[in-house]
Amino acid sequence: MEVYDYIDIIQKKVKTIARFVNYIAYIKVFGCQQNEADADKIRGFLSKIGFKFCSNPCEAEVIIFNTCAVRHTAENRIFGHIGELKKIKKINPKVLIFVCGCMVEQEHVRQKIEKNYSFVDMIFGPSMLDRFPLIFLNLIDAKNCDFNEKKNLGFRSLSGFSEKHVSNFKAFVPIISGCNNFCSYCIVPYVRGPEKSRNLHEILDKIKKLVSDGFKDITLLGQNVNSYGNDFGADSSVNFSVLLNKISDINGDFLLRFTTSHPKDFTDELIYSIAKNKHFCKHIHLPVQSGSNRILNLMNRKYTREKYLDIIHKIKCGIPDIFITTDIIVGFPGETENDFNDTMSLVEFVRFSSIFNFIYSPRRGTLAEKFQDDIPREEKVCRIKKLILLQNQISLEVLNKNVGKNVKVLVEKHEENLVLGRLSNNINVHICCSSGLDSLLGKFVYVKITGVNHGFLIGKML
Ligand code: 5AD
Ligand code: SF4
Repeated sequence: MEVYDYIDIIQKKVKTIARFVNYIAYIKVFGCQQNEADADKIRGFLSKIGFKFCSNPCEAEVIIFNTCAVRHTAENRIFGHIGELKKIKKINPKVLIFVCGCMVEQEHVRQKIEKNYSFVDMIFGPSMLDRFPLIFLNLIDAKNCDFNEKKNLGFRSLSGFSEKHVSNFKAFVPIISGCNNFCSYCIVPYVRGPEKSRNLHEILDKIKKLVSDGFKDITLLGQNVNSYGNDFGADSSVNFSVLLNKISDINGDFLLRFTTSHPKDFTDELIYSIAKNKHFCKHIHLPVQSGSNRILNLMNRKYTREKYLDIIHKIKCGIPDIFITTDIIVGFPGETENDFNDTMSLVEFVRFSSIFNFIYSPRRGTLAEKFQDDIPREEKVCRIKKLILLQNQISLEVLNKNVGKNVKVLVEKHEENLVLGRLSNNINVHICCSSGLDSLLGKFVYVKITGVNHGFLIGKML
């Protein structure tokens, strides 16, 4: 069955049921960019069958929450948001509420939602995402959808539809899903399953299409992009470097980014491919998690502090002016003052342009959940504050290095007389500008950097 026959069937079905009046959906995404990309897929399907999207859940007939499970604080916040939907369901009992994403892949969370949030109509984890069209149809018309039809519809997965991106100049392109690394603190391998790389040609076609549609900022996505192709088998010649080289050959004025990479797979070949890639932006996010070898070992990160520093050295030599960011977990079970000082000294030495830092959050079912977490909460807070203070000084120094430079900036937003843009190295810049603001959106402009403010640059149009 062709996609178009399929859409026809669904559209007719949806109309016959007359469940929706305005065909308006609301999608809220929590967590990482992978979740954004999954929401793009759902949005793609819904828009194909006639839905528009709103920013206020009270106006919607379909509400979808795409959730995150990485830290306990995120889960708590999401439960709070789900709770608020009760009022909306009470006012409009016909509204359909879906909760999907990593959080509901966990059995105890599913049980909690079924028990305490019975107004939620459907929950499904990432493993079921591709079956969203069938899930959707079943929910609105379980009785009247006959078996043969269901079988056919079941074969049409979400991947048969093109994604609908929120922006018309920035897009995420998933290249690998899942994770095989099992870092001892992390829930992702349990909720997203094993690594599965996307077909090389499918990725290249997608990027070519985005570029020809005028997209300017493309991010390759995966929990560990640099293990791309590892699952293709021993005789495959396709890996992440090969993919980057092929993307470099695509013509057009666009920026290429990727996230996230793992130090254990950051090869010299990859550094070389990045360095010569004509679209690659000057930013690499390379999570280190800790500066202590003892903690890295307990985290099952499969590299040492020395190995990480060696990669950073090679990146800095091979790609001049590169900006490097990282993730750090503070207060991992058993982290001593010495271990924490190792993290501080690594941060001091590398001089990241910014870091994302997190207090360790135990996750049910992970290896680290069984480790004795003997560091008092106040101590963890005190350590993270010290780290933030150190990084703020370094970030300021890194930002200051840009002052006086003429740079190319992608315009992302505007507010009153201010244009908000991003340098290719991912730093935000605010530019005073009073006319033609709408026409600048999604375009590259040339800017002189004149100063620094809290966490961003100030520039003037050239
Ligand atoms: N506790 C705290 N931070 C975590 N991360 C992943 N799992 C946990 C956890 N259990 C952080 C890591 C990862 C980022 C996406 O989230 O730093 O790189
Ligand atoms: Fe989690 Fe480690 Fe996989 Fe990243 S590499 S998703 S931290 S298990």
